[in-house]
Amino acid sequence: MVVVSSLFVLALPLVFQQPVKLTAEQDHKRLMVLLHIDSLRPGADGMNPKAANYQNVDEAKATTYTSLPDPLVFRNGKPVKTARDWAARRKELFEDFDREVYGRAPKQKFKVNWEVTDTKDETVGSYKVVTKTLVGHVDNSSCPAIKVDIRMSLSTPKDATKKVPVVMEFGFGGNFGPRPNPQGGPQPPSWKEQLLAKGWGYAVIVPTSYQADNGGGLTEGIIGLANKGQPRKVDDWGSLRAWAWGASRGLDYLETDKAVDAKKVAIEGLSRYGKATLVTMAYEPRFAIAFVGSSGNGGAKLMRRDFGEKVENLAGSGEYHWMAGNYLKYAGPLTPSDLPVDAHELIALCAPRPVFVSCGSPNVEGTWVDDKGMFLATAYASPVYKLLGKKGLGSMEMPPMETALIAGDLGFRQHSGGHTNGPNWPTFIEFASKYF
Ligand code: GCU
Repeated sequence: MVVVSSLFVLALPLVFQQPVKLTAEQDHKRLMVLLHIDSLRPGADGMNPKAANYQNVDEAKATTYTSLPDPLVFRNGKPVKTARDWAARRKELFEDFDREVYGRAPKQKFKVNWEVTDTKDETVGSYKVVTKTLVGHVDNSSCPAIKVDIRMSLSTPKDATKKVPVVMEFGFGGNFGPRPNPQGGPQPPSWKEQLLAKGWGYAVIVPTSYQADNGGGLTEGIIGLANKGQPRKVDDWGSLRAWAWGASRGLDYLETDKAVDAKKVAIEGLSRYGKATLVTMAYEPRFAIAFVGSSGNGGAKLMRRDFGEKVENLAGSGEYHWMAGNYLKYAGPLTPSDLPVDAHELIALCAPRPVFVSCGSPNVEGTWVDDKGMFLATAYASPVYKLLGKKGLGSMEMPPMETALIAGDLGFRQHSGGHTNGPNWPTFIEFASKYF
């Protein structure tokens, strides 16, 4: 009887089955088996300076690579000389990022039906805004056992006389804005107030509403839905690309909202959502500008650099879900230097659109995000901007703390605070004002 019923379950078409349940450890192990990997090199320890594998914080030991892949050289060694060449080179780069780094998004296009569940007037600081609460219901007819809803809110100035630019933030749900001033005294205006002062609006999308931030969730959410509840193939997308997919669907909604100038929508996020921001900007040409905050490894930091967080951390069971399964290979037997691409090429894929790269002070934020690694990747993306008739970062020298490099179409600023985008909002807004 048992045998019969389990056979029956096996015979059920995938669409009627419940998602496979695996823990992150089980799924991580499963990928290692698929990739024929026996063991992975451990990541760095970011906390305990006494640990044998404590993160490298010595600049003299950070450059473990002898060369970086050149975005302006085709795989066959031929140079990329024109904008037309670049269009072809982009395809090569996307193929490498898809297969080895962030994974491939599914071919199937999932329809999202956006519902405005609430509209209310609010006062933010001294500004009157209209805030809409939105839910994007993802068509799950291909696998009804998996329900996916994208949560987002949109706030625009109540008295606006025309469509307004909007900054979409990947929201943590908590307040990652400026911290209370330790000296007391007046608080700086929040990022929302700063945007409203320009007459702009903001949207906050909740990435974990449509893709969990852990490996155990990969058979659910939009990744699970696309796979009908089955575990990922080695080149399937990870959470970063899934989060980017949701931002694109959020932008689909903004294109239909009469309050929004959808040609002027920015994407912004911090840390893991800083990574998601850069991935979104590279893959979604409709976003006009990006504010990439403290994104570190897997984001704007050169993956080949050994400083702070390592590729081996991203390949471990706590973070691998952000990436494609194939990425594990670069933590054993391969090395980060074997990666066909690196972060400067992800930034280059955003060209010619403007990108602002932000970080805090190593003394406050810590060294984990690798401030210099993010600066260098931004600088090395510059030749692609120049080829397309734009201005790159304009410097190969890391500027002093709190010195903004925003004269070109790539921007960089290191603020003196911690793991937050807070102190860099005024600089980002100044940078964005060149375009909006
Ligand atoms: C961890 C992780 C980072 C990530 C960060 C965050 O520190 O190692 O890669 O950016 O969490 O999202 O806060």
